[in-house]
Amino acid sequence: MSKGIVKTMKGGDNVEQASLVMTMVMFSSMLWFQGRAGVVTTIDYDRRGLLFDGQPKLLFSGAIHYPRSTPEMWPDLIKKAKDGGLDVIETYVFWNAHEPEQGKYNFEENLDLVKFLNLVDAAGLYVHLRIGPFIEAEWNFGGLPIWLYLQDGADMRTNSTIFMNAMQNFTTKIVQMMKDENMFIWQGGPIIIAQIENEFGAYPNYTSAYAYAMWAAQMAVALNTSVPWTMCKQPDAPDPVINTHNGVTNGNIFQPNAPYKPKMWTELYTGWFQTYGQPKPTRSETNIAFEVARFFINNGTFVNYYMYHGGTNFGRSAGGPFMTTSYDYDAPIDEYGLFNQPKWGHLKGLHQALKLCELALIDGARSDPISLGNHQYALVFSNGTDYCAAFITNLHTKRSCIVEYNGQKYNLPAQSISILIDCKTEVFNTAKVYSQTNTIQMLPALPSSLETVTKDYVPHILGIQSWQWFAELVGEWDQTYTTSTCCSEQIHLTKDTTDYLWYITSINIAEEDVVDANLHLQSVAHAAHIFINEEYTGTAAGDRVNPVIEIDQPVKLKSGQNDIAILSMTVGLQSGVRPGHIQLLGIQGPVTLGGLSVGDLNLTSQSWTYQVGLQGEYLQLFNQNDSNNEIWNSSSLPVNRSLTWYKTTFDAPESKTPLALDLSTMGKGQAWINGKSIGRYWPSRKINGDNCSFSPEANEIEMIQSNVCAESTQRWYHVPLSLIKSTGNLLVLFEEVGGDPTGITLVTRALTAICSRISEDFPAPLESWQANSTLRLPEMRLECSDEQKISSIHFASFGNPRGNCNKFRRGPCHAESSPKIVKEACIGRQNCTVAVTASTFGADPCPDEIKALAVMANCSSNPSSAVS
Ligand SMILES: *[C@@H]1O[C@H](CO)[C@@H](O)[C@H](O)[C@H]1NC(C)=O
Ligand SMILES: *[C@@H]1O[C@H](CO)[C@@H](O)[C@H](O)[C@H]1NC(C)=O
Ligand SMILES: *[C@@H]1O[C@H](CO)[C@@H](O)[C@H](O)[C@H]1NC(C)=O
Ligand SMILES: *[C@@H]1O[C@H](CO)[C@@H](O)[C@H](O)[C@H]1NC(C)=O
Ligand SMILES: *[C@@H]1O[C@H](CO)[C@@H](O)[C@H](O)[C@H]1NC(C)=O
Ligand SMILES: *[C@@H]1O[C@H](CO)[C@@H](O)[C@H](O)[C@H]1NC(C)=O
Ligand SMILES: *[C@@H]1O[C@H](CO)[C@@H](O)[C@H](O)[C@H]1NC(C)=O
Ligand SMILES: *[C@@H]1O[C@H](CO)[C@@H](O)[C@H](O)[C@H]1NC(C)=O
Ligand SMILES: *[C@@H]1O[C@H](CO)[C@@H](O)[C@H](O)[C@H]1NC(C)=O
Ligand SMILES: *[C@@H]1O[C@H](CO)[C@@H](O)[C@H](O)[C@H]1NC(C)=O
Ligand SMILES: *[C@@H]1O[C@H](CO)[C@@H](O)[C@H](O)[C@H]1NC(C)=O
Repeated sequence: MSKGIVKTMKGGDNVEQASLVMTMVMFSSMLWFQGRAGVVTTIDYDRRGLLFDGQPKLLFSGAIHYPRSTPEMWPDLIKKAKDGGLDVIETYVFWNAHEPEQGKYNFEENLDLVKFLNLVDAAGLYVHLRIGPFIEAEWNFGGLPIWLYLQDGADMRTNSTIFMNAMQNFTTKIVQMMKDENMFIWQGGPIIIAQIENEFGAYPNYTSAYAYAMWAAQMAVALNTSVPWTMCKQPDAPDPVINTHNGVTNGNIFQPNAPYKPKMWTELYTGWFQTYGQPKPTRSETNIAFEVARFFINNGTFVNYYMYHGGTNFGRSAGGPFMTTSYDYDAPIDEYGLFNQPKWGHLKGLHQALKLCELALIDGARSDPISLGNHQYALVFSNGTDYCAAFITNLHTKRSCIVEYNGQKYNLPAQSISILIDCKTEVFNTAKVYSQTNTIQMLPALPSSLETVTKDYVPHILGIQSWQWFAELVGEWDQTYTTSTCCSEQIHLTKDTTDYLWYITSINIAEEDVVDANLHLQSVAHAAHIFINEEYTGTAAGDRVNPVIEIDQPVKLKSGQNDIAILSMTVGLQSGVRPGHIQLLGIQGPVTLGGLSVGDLNLTSQSWTYQVGLQGEYLQLFNQNDSNNEIWNSSSLPVNRSLTWYKTTFDAPESKTPLALDLSTMGKGQAWINGKSIGRYWPSRKINGDNCSFSPEANEIEMIQSNVCAESTQRWYHVPLSLIKSTGNLLVLFEEVGGDPTGITLVTRALTAICSRISEDFPAPLESWQANSTLRLPEMRLECSDEQKISSIHFASFGNPRGNCNKFRRGPCHAESSPKIVKEACIGRQNCTVAVTASTFGADPCPDEIKALAVMANCSSNPSSAVS
């Protein structure tokens, strides 16, 4: 493409002519192409993008990982992704979930990959299938099978023959499955691209495994999928494989390794993962939108939001170490499947605006930057006569400004890009947020049997009386234990079939040595509970930064024999599996006992007993099983007792909204509903530090942490609706350190309030143009969930309201009619629209100012039953 047909374009050159034509064309039919259009027989690429029968497209993609939700949730998630303007759904394939034992496969329930892809197909979207099969993904051991890791010579992600064979086997199996199910685009299916390996090039000195990476690329290509392959963060990806960008920023400056490859961003982070002890990272929609717009005006052709829906790490699938069970990621669709607003809506607006410029971005010649100020410039994409799109960037990170371009004035907030679809009409600015902000809360889930609810109703609906319990034994519980000196490596013993491994020994203490002693354990990963003579004595746990810890535990000993039992546990295996990775988990020793009159005792070379797992796990106490009935104790329910199994049954509440367990009265453990693990819980793990300062590993990150210090890292645990029957649901918990199960409540997650602030200088929303092509005013649109209504207006001011959403207050300029006008338009409705202009509010409260309308409203499904 020749650059420079449109060389410089200051204030209204030949742009004018094109823009007039465009304005007419655009406004009469505001159409944009999304997702699939017609039959495609070949897919290829050039520098302009992926080519669908030769035609390049701009593509928006979002990551939704099928095992992190349930098949019942999939259709709604995919619909919300489509409504959000996506063309493509990206997912990894989760090898260790699909092949839990070598040669034994599982593609059932939420591992039903084909079903998931068929739903994406039915919705008319494409698929980027990131097979890996190493995926990282904050998933247990990055998706690699432990049975493979434990084979001699199977060095992960290297040219070990054993590793390569197994990796090739699985990749081939998935590709063959996709072919058999007609999943590729040329077969009429949704898959347009696939990924091999994952961020391999992130290791700067991977020379010893270089042969493997190159082999992996060739192996993938030889599978004849007839769709392009990608390798992310692999600067030397060999042809024809496309190297792609992953990152928070820098999509604009990334370059593929050949001029004929398209510029693709396979992971643009919408937030970040969370680990126990860490605050929850968030990322603003305006920062994301700015980076996406900047990418597309710098040759970008494809962006994938990682994550679009993050979901939940059910069971023991959370990787690590220390990944939380929630994988919310601050994604546009939240963990529970609800809209994360304004993020979802703002990105939707961005997608529509960029799609309207698709032709100009793909085929137009890009002008040189046209300076409009010290930090402001315009880029014009045009072919001279027929189309023209302009993008005005304000790079100043603090100051907004007004620039003049093409004869018109544009107000640009700090660090933002305005999109002018006809080189004149601003349809979107990355920092003018049209979308409302949703306040989502956890509310008591009311049992269906309870008819009237009073204010002092305590929603302990799980039933105080009905709890039963079982005391897990301290130390060995079965003859299957093994014995050796200290210390055996944990994964070699457990094979990751359980988090738990007991390390047990005993020591004789003479009368004169009964003093306060100190048990010193070196290298403990990831956490351990210490028991002396069957008494719980203390816990030590690392965190993501220091997964391996050293413990000095004060212990009280008695004269004679003292039993030392340490319950060591993993909290998710390392997701970032480096080439040749070796993990040493459990207690590595040496173990010494200090403070005795005889001096330090070295316990390392004495005899230790190793017991894999828990008795309760072996008995499968989490399953309904009558032969276990006698094990459960119904009397004197203990509270704050370590190593305790709890069990109750509950009836489903009347809820169409998502459910969660509030486990804030519990310590650490795992919870099962109807035999299915909903994940590890650890509400007693508070957020570290005094100021909650936090820097994720990517130092380029621009993220804000929202949590209050010393709050639980994770208090609520997702209970998918599909897991619940109407009556008699079995809830089982294994509590490691001590908790109060009678304080557990079932809560429902619902939209309770919405707020929005729309300025007079915002462009009219794209939707309003279709309806009315002459009057295009900025307008405020408010919307509750389906089946909800706007029940009250908490705040409304047209003028210069101060503060942010949820904390608005009036400014000196305020139209007195604001609350009345907004109430009339909105109360009792599911949604409403108010034009943001002085005439809506009668008189203009301050004619010389640019005014804004700020509103906060409450949503409610049944106002009378609201419990506060
Ligand atoms: C693996 O790669 C190294 C370095 O290139 C090479 O020396 C070795 O022979 C290779 N091993 C196998 C099994 O291909
Ligand atoms: C690969 O698959 C073949 C056939 O399914 C099987 O016989 C072989 O054991 C597998 N090899 C590995 C390393 O998994
Ligand atoms: C890679 O570099 C790290 C740090 O410089 C070093 O410890 C490691 O041994 C290197 N690995 C290889 C395979 O060269
Ligand atoms: C891929 O196609 C080539 C050439 O047609 C053929 O030799 C090879 O066997 C095919 N491989 C697979 C896995 O189908
Ligand atoms: C965009 O692509 C053109 C043509 O390959 C190239 O000349 C230009 O440098 C690229 N610009 C950016 C910002 O990547
Ligand atoms: C501009 O693009 C339109 C639509 O693709 C095309 O019909 C026209 O010939 C192009 N004009 C020039 C000057 O390239
Ligand atoms: C304890 O014994 C082990 C194994 O015999 C040894 O490696 C370690 O150095 C000893 N530690 C101390 C502190 O003496
Ligand atoms: C029930 O528990 C017993 C004893 O633990 C076990 O042998 C049996 O397999 C279990 N039955 C089912 C259906 O899980
Ligand atoms: C239940 O627990 C209490 C307190 O530990 C104990 O006294 C009682 O014997 C137990 N009952 C059964 C049936 O195990
Ligand atoms: C729970 O028990 C531990 C000792 O095991 C004690 O330190 C702690 O204060 C107890 N907590 C409550 C809430 O009773
Ligand atoms: C807005 O509310 C009206 C009824 O008040 C309803 O008919 C319409 O479907 C709603 N629109 C959307 C987009 O939900």
